Amino acid sequence: MTYTRLTVVGAGVIGLSCAWRAAAAGLDVTVLDPAPASGASRVAGGMLAPVTEAWPGEEGLLGLGVESVRRWPGFAGRLADAAGRPAGLRTEGTVVVATGGGDRAELDALAGYLAGLGREVQRLGGRELRRLEPALGPEVRGGLSVPGDLAVDNRVLLAALRAAVERAGAAVREVEVHEVLDDGDRVTGVRTAAGDLPAECVLVCAGAHSAALHPALHGLVRPVKGEILRLAARVGAFPPPSRTVRALVDGRPVYAVPRDDGGLVIGATQTETGFDTEVTVGGVRDLLRDAERVLPGIAEYALVEAAAGLRPGSRDNLPLLGALGPEGLLVATGHHRNGILLAPLTADAVLGLLRGEPEPAVAAADPARFAAAGHGR
Ligand code: GLY
Repeated sequence: MTYTRLTVVGAGVIGLSCAWRAAAAGLDVTVLDPAPASGASRVAGGMLAPVTEAWPGEEGLLGLGVESVRRWPGFAGRLADAAGRPAGLRTEGTVVVATGGGDRAELDALAGYLAGLGREVQRLGGRELRRLEPALGPEVRGGLSVPGDLAVDNRVLLAALRAAVERAGAAVREVEVHEVLDDGDRVTGVRTAAGDLPAECVLVCAGAHSAALHPALHGLVRPVKGEILRLAARVGAFPPPSRTVRALVDGRPVYAVPRDDGGLVIGATQTETGFDTEVTVGGVRDLLRDAERVLPGIAEYALVEAAAGLRPGSRDNLPLLGALGPEGLLVATGHHRNGILLAPLTADAVLGLLRGEPEPAVAAADPARFAAAGHGR
């Protein structure tokens, strides 16, 4: 089945990336979102770090992430051309560092795991790390350099995506979607706060809010809250790192993602408290305490913003990319911690689905894996 008209529900990084690529390929695209580019994609840090965030047992996710980070430079270049503005990619790479002995043992285990998968990373001692990144403090005793793990300024990216979507001729309507409608066999439209709209093909990219949009998605995506801080280096303060720094501090992960303007994003907490986007005192305290032990100079920085977003968690931490339920329903959701990272691969995969040419690289993310387990319909 191929489609010529597409209704995209959700204007975060996934919805906008898919809408841009589909509209640029000639489809008639409408994007529906009550507040475009304002959810988890706006709160995100922008790490493109499949290797430094790798976890034993999540090889499927590592494979998707490595493939998507490989596509990121081309995606960013095409996006900048299409939007007429930068896409925000930073190519300085990532270091992952440890403080105490337990953290170093965990990094050694990560390095061993990655080597076992044929992904070599460079092990460095504390002094070597400080030569690379003088902002790292004396508590940092060892770590790994991963030049291929990149970063992007997510807000610069979102602005570029919105421009590219509009230039490609897609319509963006600020309206809330309550549910996707079908006649039992195929999609017929969407129910919105402004009434029902007909649709031939609906792509659900509504992040943590996706599960409520169609019975086939019920129970498959849940909100996973993350709190994040935005800091700015003040005049006279120690300069921020040039690479993304991911750290383990007494077993707790924290990361710092530099921006071109001297800003530094510190993230992120991870809790499951439903659709709660309040920033907590404890969350801010934990992030600042752990980040300062790794990057002591931040004590002199300005605290510019504290925000919380809802990652769309899936049952196995892999996204859901593909057809689900009635004919004409496509989903690109459940990206959990990896929405920004997986945007290029997701957009390629969705374009493939729309053309009737499935992308083999995303086979692990086929939502049919849950239908086979008795979920969806
Ligand atoms: N990708 C990092 C996070 O979700 O916090």
